[in-house]
Amino acid sequence: MLPADWRKRFRGRWSLGRLLAPETTFRIGGPAQLYLEPESVTDLVESVVALRRIGMPYRILGGGSNLLVADRGVEGAVLSLARLRQIKRSEGRITADGGARLSTVVRVAAEQGLSGLEPFGGIPGTVGGAVFGNAGSKYGAIGPRVLALELLRPEGQLERVVPSGSFFGYRHSLVGDSVVLRVELSVEPGDRERVGRRTQDIVRERNRTQPGWVGNAGCVFKNPPGASAGRLIDDAGCKGLTEGRIRVSRRHANFFENVGGGRAESVQRLIDRVRKRVRRASGAELELEVRRWL
Ligand code: EPU
Repeated sequence: MLPADWRKRFRGRWSLGRLLAPETTFRIGGPAQLYLEPESVTDLVESVVALRRIGMPYRILGGGSNLLVADRGVEGAVLSLARLRQIKRSEGRITADGGARLSTVVRVAAEQGLSGLEPFGGIPGTVGGAVFGNAGSKYGAIGPRVLALELLRPEGQLERVVPSGSFFGYRHSLVGDSVVLRVELSVEPGDRERVGRRTQDIVRERNRTQPGWVGNAGCVFKNPPGASAGRLIDDAGCKGLTEGRIRVSRRHANFFENVGGGRAESVQRLIDRVRKRVRRASGAELELEVRRWL
């Protein structure tokens, strides 16, 4: 197990065999061998160093909103950033810890009349997760808003990165194995009412066209260039298709719904069936957006 000197200093919470299902919006997944919730960046850095020292692999858990966890759980450690969630405002920017909820950051910006983050209204998950996967909507992705990132590299060093043009791609970034500790997002002064209204409109549109946050993992597949995966799945006649307790959403076909007690193996089977049907119907190859700990 973890070295005694680390355990003595660790300020956060830790547990063995904690179930991951409640930590994911899909509500699917077995236990983590070791679950760590560091209290501060120092705690986090020391945990990563200690885990490396004993050779235990670790994974980073953000908001669990784009994640499918195996029914049998995962070996090694899961590091949750839930306690690292400070949000600060300074001239032209909002700086948020990786574990801060993106929705909270969007709300704080709107309340202060700061414009630029409206496209992210209604997106679940953490700021770190959003940056990792360059989350966004048709109104824009988060990448271009990132002025700088503070990363914890796997070797334990902290690094400030000013992302270049190639750092972000569609639902992709070069964060890789690093932990996103802090993100500086650019915002512009705007009219409080207008920013609030635009954010609300985007949230409302999302709620109208997509299922809510719980019981799914957001879009399962990436959009192929120039097409919508949701439309392709819909056109292939997959809405309502079911495997076990997992169903292709009737509201938006790129969402799979856990109707209660769903299992990762059912999701995997549904992924395979949908891919096959779409390939047959349109020739398109669907690439997964959802991350898997399988
Ligand atoms: N459509 C259908 N049937 C469906 C779903 C969609 O015909 O079941 C049609 C819609 O009517 C629309 C078109 O497909 O004409 C595009 O749909 P939508 O506007 O919902 O956008 P999308 O391309 O399916 C993308 C992102 C979403 C984001 C929305 C809205 C991806 C994979 N998806 O979806 O992001 O919320 O735009 O901005 O990039 C996510 O990444 O997890 C995600 C949900």
